[in-house]
Amino acid sequence: MTDHTTRPLAQDELRAANTLFRGTLHVAPSTDEEWTRTVASYQPGRTLGVLDAELIGTARSFDSALTVPGGARVPLGSVTGVGVRADRTRRGVLTELMRAQLGDFADRGLVAANLYASEGLIYGRFGYGVATLARKCVVDRRRATVRAGAPVGGEVELLDLETAKARLPEIYDAFGGDRPGGMSRSEYWWPGLFRQLQRSESPVVTVLHHGASGIDGYVVYHSARPNPVDPAVLRVEEFHTATPEAYAQLWRFLLGVDLIDSIEVSALPTDDPVELLFTDPRAVKVTDTWDETWLRLVDVPGALAARERGDTELVIEVTDPVLPVNSGRYLVSRDAVTRTEASPQLSMGVDVLAMIYLGTWRPSALASVGRVEVADAEVARRADLLFSTRSAAWCGTFF
Ligand SMILES: CC(C)(COP(=O)(O)OP(=O)(O)OC[C@H]1O[C@@H](n2cnc3c(N)ncnc32)[C@H](O)[C@@H]1OP(=O)(O)O)[C@@H](O)C(=O)NCCC(=O)NCCS
Repeated sequence: MTDHTTRPLAQDELRAANTLFRGTLHVAPSTDEEWTRTVASYQPGRTLGVLDAELIGTARSFDSALTVPGGARVPLGSVTGVGVRADRTRRGVLTELMRAQLGDFADRGLVAANLYASEGLIYGRFGYGVATLARKCVVDRRRATVRAGAPVGGEVELLDLETAKARLPEIYDAFGGDRPGGMSRSEYWWPGLFRQLQRSESPVVTVLHHGASGIDGYVVYHSARPNPVDPAVLRVEEFHTATPEAYAQLWRFLLGVDLIDSIEVSALPTDDPVELLFTDPRAVKVTDTWDETWLRLVDVPGALAARERGDTELVIEVTDPVLPVNSGRYLVSRDAVTRTEASPQLSMGVDVLAMIYLGTWRPSALASVGRVEVADAEVARRADLLFSTRSAAWCGTFF
């Protein structure tokens, strides 16, 4: 690309970036009132623009922390607002933005980056891989009954949206995002959720669960009935719990809401046991399983060292064309991660390492489709052990 400048945008250029981005999604520009609320999501200094005579492409990010297997949290850049003007696509503008953004992340000492992808063919070339999956489920309210013997206890409390705005950030901080793939939520994340909830035509209800040690779970929902003759759906936008009691009790509450036919949850972890909570597992229909977040390891040795590893050791070769400092061979064991010149037993691109990193995909499965080169089947088995995890990775924070 020539005759272009790529640089962080100043505060007074952010609205143009927002208009450009919305245009690429076929959405009209923000009204003045919407923009007043939207600008709160822009972390200062973190919106990049590509300019020729005018702004033609943009991408932004905000700081978070990623939970990795074993429970450690590493500095994360969460990427959003990516768009290139329709008359300037397919000539390297996004490539320029991604290179600049990843270079900036590396300079800032971020260990990883994540994003939600609009399409599956865009981000692999920049080293992102599908790293968490989520299930969309619909529960038939009249068919679902919580099994006798499911945990009981605690009390629920309802909050309206205004109260929830004030209280949810602190509540989420106490136990949210603690699975591998989960993330912290900064002051730049919450305004987006509340803007989305405010668009609901029905009241937005937050239900807190008070357990033995304080608040240990919450759901946020609103109802939707597209037409008076259609069945009424209760849409769950947030479902986070820290204890089995909170989980079962919040489901009991949701099933007890009158005038509702079904309960829809758009992003549950793949190992969420909702079917098993009910007497009839077929009260739950899984209507979709989707590539929830894409992950990019910005600091490969730092990321490998931060997560827990199984009791074996392997030499892994990683190739990273965008951040070549990551390319090389690593001796990875339960106790340490070091660079080595030894012959590799596994080789993969940095995008594939991201797919393996949170435990969503096993190295042996990726080897079976030619995404990982392995010396032999025994190496594949040991690689599965090295990267095994105790629970399914899940983000649960849309941005
Ligand atoms: C997706 C988007 C940002 C790509 O921007 P772009 O400037 O055209 O991308 P580039 O020219 O840098 O493309 C780099 C490579 O990715 C490919 N690519 C880019 N977008 C692609 C897409 N949507 N589908 C398939 N391939 C794509 C290009 O063909 C190119 O391949 P090549 O290197 O083999 O030639 C742009 O098309 C866009 O704004 N789309 C609508 C909004 C959107 O989806 N944003 C992403 C939100 S997560």
